[in-house]
Amino acid sequence: VKFTVEDRDGSRQEVEVPEDMGLNLMETLKAFEYNILATCGGIALCATCHVKLLGGGENLPEVGDAEGQMLDTLMDSESNSRLACQLKVDDTLQGCIFKICGDEH
Ligand code: FES
Repeated sequence: VKFTVEDRDGSRQEVEVPEDMGLNLMETLKAFEYNILATCGGIALCATCHVKLLGGGENLPEVGDAEGQMLDTLMDSESNSRLACQLKVDDTLQGCIFKICGDEH
């Protein structure tokens, strides 16, 4: 699956990952050396993996309960905000453009 990642400085990179690795988007972004704290380890409790969907995503699953509650605590969350740790890397990510928004190290 291929999608695009926009870093905090606006630079974009296309990322391609196999779908069958069982990773979530937060883990994948870290593997590509993006600066993501992920303090909670991926259980929707820190919001440092906050991303905004800038394009695509028609097939993404709805925001989950825990994800939505956490996003509600953020000052800068918008209707296109997601927690990267709650998104599975599968074909629903194809063609998406994600902007990294969470706190840095
Ligand atoms: Fe903490 Fe996603 S890694 S909410």
